[in-house]
Amino acid sequence: MPADSVESPEGSAPWWRDAVIYQVYPRSFADSNGDGIGDLPGVTSKIPYLANLGVDAVWLSPFYVSPQADAGYDVADYRDIDAVFGTLADADAMLQAAAAHGIKVVVDLVPNHTSDEHDWFVEALAAGPGSPERNRYVFRDGQGEDGELPPNNWRSVFGGGAWERVVEADGSPGQWYLHIFDLKQPDLNWEHPEVREEFHEILRFWLDRGVDGFRVDVAHGLIKEEGLPDWDHEQELLHGSDDTGARPPMWDQDGVHEVYRGWRQVLDAYPGDRMLVAEAWVEPAERLAMYVRPDEMHQAFNFEYLTAAWRGPDLRAVIDRSLAADESVGAPTTWVLSNHDVVRHSTRLGLSVAGGRTTGIGADDPQPDAALGLRRARAASTLMLALPGSAYLYQGEELGLPDHTALPDAVRQDPAYLRTGGAHIGRDGCRIPMPWSGEGASLGFGPSARSWLPQPESYVSLAADRQVGVEGSTLELYRALLRLRREHRVGLGRLEWADAGADALDVRNGSVRVLVNFGDRPLPLPADADVLVASGPLADGGSALPSDTAVWLRVQD
Ligand code: GLC
Ligand code: CA
Repeated sequence: MPADSVESPEGSAPWWRDAVIYQVYPRSFADSNGDGIGDLPGVTSKIPYLANLGVDAVWLSPFYVSPQADAGYDVADYRDIDAVFGTLADADAMLQAAAAHGIKVVVDLVPNHTSDEHDWFVEALAAGPGSPERNRYVFRDGQGEDGELPPNNWRSVFGGGAWERVVEADGSPGQWYLHIFDLKQPDLNWEHPEVREEFHEILRFWLDRGVDGFRVDVAHGLIKEEGLPDWDHEQELLHGSDDTGARPPMWDQDGVHEVYRGWRQVLDAYPGDRMLVAEAWVEPAERLAMYVRPDEMHQAFNFEYLTAAWRGPDLRAVIDRSLAADESVGAPTTWVLSNHDVVRHSTRLGLSVAGGRTTGIGADDPQPDAALGLRRARAASTLMLALPGSAYLYQGEELGLPDHTALPDAVRQDPAYLRTGGAHIGRDGCRIPMPWSGEGASLGFGPSARSWLPQPESYVSLAADRQVGVEGSTLELYRALLRLRREHRVGLGRLEWADAGADALDVRNGSVRVLVNFGDRPLPLPADADVLVASGPLADGGSALPSDTAVWLRVQD
C-alpha cells in the first residue's frame, strides 16, 4: 500500500477513508419556501440534524442550473445554482454551516453529458456540421440514403434509441447527436481538449468555494470505443451485458482513466483532503478497482454490494472480493445499500425475490412485505456499518423509509418512465420528499402542503420527530451505530471471519464482533455476550438472535 496515499499530513488517515457519507437529494430533502421542491436553504436548516445523526460528510445530488429533464442530472450551467434550489450565496451558506458542524461536503459532477440547454449545445446546433462547436459533442451523419437512419444501433439507458436527429439552420433534416441518457442530455466528446480543460476549470470553481470532493456521475461512460461500433447485447442498463465477456463500446473504456489522472492532479494542488468518488457500474471488482488506483479517484461506489442477495454466503463473498480488489490498489472499500436510482433497501428486502429488484415498483407489481423489509433493512445496515472502509447512506434510510410503491402514474417524472411509455416504472418511488414531522400536510417537508411527489401514508409514523429519542426507533439505531463505529474505529479495521454456516455471518472487526441471522430460527448468542447494539429486539430473554436480525458484541480480550 503506498504510504503517502494512506497518511494525511497530520499522520492520521484522511477523512474519506472511513467516512460515513450521507446522500442528500436536494429536491426531496427540505423545502424552505413552500413551492413543494426541496432547496439549499432547506439543506442548511437540517445540518444540525445531520450532525446529531453523526455523519462525517454529505454528498448532494446536482443543484446546478438545469431544465430538470433528469432531476438536475442535465446541467445547463455548472457554475451556478438553479433558481429552484436557491443561489450561489445559498450554496456558500450551506458550505459554511456544514463546516461549522464538522461535516464535509461532496458535490455531484456530471461530465458525461450536458443539458441540451447548455450554451455549448445551443452553439453546436447553430454552428452546423463539421464546426468546432459540434465537435464538443458526438455528432454524426446518419446512415441510409438521406442520412435518415441513426449512425449506429445504440440504445438509451432510459429506453428508445440513443441518437436524435437535428434540424439544421436552413430547416433541412440534419446530423444526429448521441444521448446515452435522455435526448435532453447530449453526450460530450471527451476526446476534445477543450472539454477536458473546461472540466478542470469546473473542478477548480467548486474547490475554490470550499467543497471537499466530487461524486462523479456515470464515471465509466465518458470515453466511447473508437468508431462507435454497433452493440447487439443488452443496452438499457448502465453496465450492459457481461455474458459474453465483451465490454460494451459505451462503458468502461480504458481511455477514461487518463481523464481521472488529470482530475487527481487538479485536486492534489489544493490543501486538505479533497476526494473523488466514482459512480461506475463496472464489474468485476478488479475492473472497478482500476478507478481507484493511487493516481486516480479515491473511492468508487460498490454496487455489487448493493445488488447482493440477502444471504450470508453471498454477502461474505462480495465483501471479501471487494476488500481484496481495493486493497490491491491501496484504496478503501465503500458500502452502499440505497440511493436515488434504486429501490430502497427497506423495500427491496421485503420482496420475495432474493435480494429484491432494484428497478422501480408500480401499483400493479407484487407489493413488498413492509415489516419484513424494514427488519432486514435494519439488519443490513447494522452489518454494513460494521465493515471497514467508507459507507454511503441515502436520505431517509435512517428513518427506515420505504419506496412509494403505488404512485399514481400521472405524477411520475422520471425520464426512464416517460421514455418507455411506462414499461419501466422508473425511480420516482425512492425520491419521495422527507417526512420531518408526523403532522402537517407535507409532513414537515416544507411550510406548505405542496410536495413534488405525494408521500405514502406510512411516512406519518416514520417521520423524524416520531423517532427522535424513541428507544428502538430506526433513527436511534443509526445514531448508535454511527457513534459506536467511531468509538471502535471500525472504519479503519480489518475483518476476521468465523465459520457460521449457511444461515448466519460471524465476523470480527477489532473490538467489535458482528453476528447476523439469515435463517428462520433464533440463533443462540454466546453466554458472555456483551451487546453493544442490536438491529431489533433479541429473543429468549436476550440470549438469542432472531431471524433477520444483526448484533454488535463487544470483544473481550
Ligand atoms: C447517474 C445518476 C442518475 C442519472 C444518470 C444520468 O446514473 O445517478 O440519477 O439519471 O446518471 O446522469
Ligand atoms: Ca423550495
